[in-house]
Amino acid sequence: MRLLNRIAMITGGGSGIGRATAHRFASEGAKVVVADINDESGIKTVEDIEAAGGAGRFVHADVTVAAEVKALVRQTIEVYGGVDILVNNAFFCDGDDILTVDEDLWDKNIRGCLSSVFLCSKAVLPHMIDRRHGAIVNIASVNGLLGLGEEGYSAAKAGIISLTQNIAVRYGEHQVRANAICPGSIQTPAWVPVLEKDPDLFERLSKWYPLQRIGQPEEVAAAALFLASDEASFITGTTLVVDGGLTAGLKRMGEELVGK
Ligand SMILES: NC(=O)c1ccc[n+]([C@@H]2O[C@H](COP(=O)([O-])OP(=O)(O)OC[C@H]3O[C@@H](n4cnc5c(N)ncnc54)[C@H](O)[C@@H]3O)[C@@H](O)[C@H]2O)c1
Repeated sequence: MRLLNRIAMITGGGSGIGRATAHRFASEGAKVVVADINDESGIKTVEDIEAAGGAGRFVHADVTVAAEVKALVRQTIEVYGGVDILVNNAFFCDGDDILTVDEDLWDKNIRGCLSSVFLCSKAVLPHMIDRRHGAIVNIASVNGLLGLGEEGYSAAKAGIISLTQNIAVRYGEHQVRANAICPGSIQTPAWVPVLEKDPDLFERLSKWYPLQRIGQPEEVAAAALFLASDEASFITGTTLVVDGGLTAGLKRMGEELVGK
């Protein structure tokens, strides 16, 4: 078991990538604290973990609110005695072109994606430093690497990469590691409203990916497990791209170059 008795806090653990990560971590022996604003889905994640023989706990927490984040960390420490792993996965995404996005919506994207990572990291770091042990895994996005639209969300995701590097550099001497993951398109409930309006979207998106498909949440969870585990003991401050090759190059441009 790769995370035996480790205490892992997963934000947005009620759905999609967070849920798959919670399951995977629990199956590797971790005690998992699922934090979510959606009580029903958060509780369901924990029930499923327990039904499979794992250990978990749901805590209602809005990770954009400092007091709720502090209470989340306090409860985790009361119940399990510490925090070894933090997966910052919760997010907010709305709006596209900055010319059509007002300040309020811009702030919501930054708060939901980036300030939440700031708040949760700030709350767990003192405990990780005390124990001289900790792994933070931040779920960013390929939107933080390339201009793909949704500017508020994308800028926040690029910010996560920088925050990850700075945490890694500043707290490495305390044996705290921090790494980011940049997923490409992953089939999760986040897409449901989009697919209702545009059912063929995944089929069209798949053509942009060298692997000719979009990803599954378990494929991101596997990367999170690696970065959270001791197998990644000398890896910190890095960004692991889990995108089916999307950001590796431009096939059509290559073909243009050689005149195909
Ligand atoms: N799905 C994709 O295609 C994709 C691609 C790149 C990156 N990502 C990133 O992966 C992460 C997970 O996305 P997903 O697709 O699994 O989403 P999802 O919608 O399936 O799950 C997100 C969960 O976060 C919770 N949440 C939202 N705001 C919260 C808050 N303020 N406090 C606590 N919980 C909150 C939601 O209730 C939900 O349970 C996000 O960071 C997202 O940006 C997803």
